[in-house]
Amino acid sequence: MTAPMRNRQIVYAKRPVGEPDLGCFDLVEGDIGRPGPGQALIRNDYVSVDPYIRMRMEAKDSYAPVMKIGEIMVGRTVGQVVESNIPDFKTGDWVVGRLGWQDYSIAAAADLQKIDINAAPPTAYLGSLGSTGITAWVGLMHFGQPKAGETVVVSAASGAVGSVVGQLARRRGCRAVGIAGGKAKCAIVTREFGFDACVDYKSPDFASELAAAVPKGIDVYFDNVAGPILDTVLPLLNNFARVPLCGLVSQYNATEPYRIANYREVFNRRVTIRGFVLSDHRDLWPAATEELAAAYAAGQLKYRETITDGLENAPQAFIDMLRGGNIGKQLVRIRT
Ligand SMILES: NC(=O)c1ccc[n+]([C@@H]2O[C@H](COP(=O)([O-])OP(=O)(O)OC[C@H]3O[C@@H](n4cnc5c(N)ncnc54)[C@H](OP(=O)(O)O)[C@@H]3O)[C@@H](O)[C@H]2O)c1
Repeated sequence: MTAPMRNRQIVYAKRPVGEPDLGCFDLVEGDIGRPGPGQALIRNDYVSVDPYIRMRMEAKDSYAPVMKIGEIMVGRTVGQVVESNIPDFKTGDWVVGRLGWQDYSIAAAADLQKIDINAAPPTAYLGSLGSTGITAWVGLMHFGQPKAGETVVVSAASGAVGSVVGQLARRRGCRAVGIAGGKAKCAIVTREFGFDACVDYKSPDFASELAAAVPKGIDVYFDNVAGPILDTVLPLLNNFARVPLCGLVSQYNATEPYRIANYREVFNRRVTIRGFVLSDHRDLWPAATEELAAAYAAGQLKYRETITDGLENAPQAFIDMLRGGNIGKQLVRIRT
């Protein structure tokens, strides 16, 4: 493989107010550069576009620092080594890294993880077998502590993290109930991902339909969205329920914060709400990876991908994903 002369990158161009538009991103071209000592040049085949990036586009710090204008958009990539000055990484090796929205990246060994594409397709390592699946595992197993016979509810259930949560809950002998936007998505959640039930939060009868789907109440609510859905869930929680708070996707584009009305139920029912961020729990990654890989190998971990072609279309893919345009993991195929 020979290295091309130019690299395309998507950079952060403008802070959004509410929903981002295409003007928030720029496509720039530059030199690829050559890897220095202890570095490798990677050709990125796919990049993951993730909801948390919208938080980082705000002018205020979240758990991660504010993104600066001109900075390359962050995202996990999967691709192949083109040229290497790292003894353990050879040309042609498949690697995952957090290498950003760009055709090529130069990275050190610490930023790269080799993957086995004979065990699963490369894109699976950006989804169910990668940080997405590990997020689901850490939130559910470590903070949710599900027990056989309990009811686990997860929002954004047709999405990347949510679809894994329900399948892991079923493996633990729990009743898995999803919440998703629209009947078509709910049908996928039950038929493809094997949840026991799924409730459409866009239905005018959402509250009563959710109550009917959890006749024994809710023991674990894996929250991907916060906002009005969390408010609807709170009165249905059982005493001592656990709420792993994974994300707040319903609030990322909001210009006014949603005020929780049923907060008193947290006290009444002695609920534990626990925000968590995957990078704080690296000690749990090996156990998570082991179970996810075993489930996948046994055919017990189904996943879906929504793939958009072309690096230049990554901004639109990101905007669409925040609107619910994806089923499963939203990816962009860079090398078409
Ligand atoms: N804590 C961590 O370390 C960590 C790591 C990874 C991801 N996360 C979080 O996990 C959550 C899911 O991420 P993901 O990558 O798996 O994304 P995803 O669920 O694949 O995609 C986002 C989904 O959010 C749903 N959504 C958008 N607006 C909504 C609204 N107003 N109300 C309800 N649902 C809405 C959409 O589904 P519908 O069509 O159903 O609305 C959309 O498909 C996000 O909050 C993300 O920030 C956290």
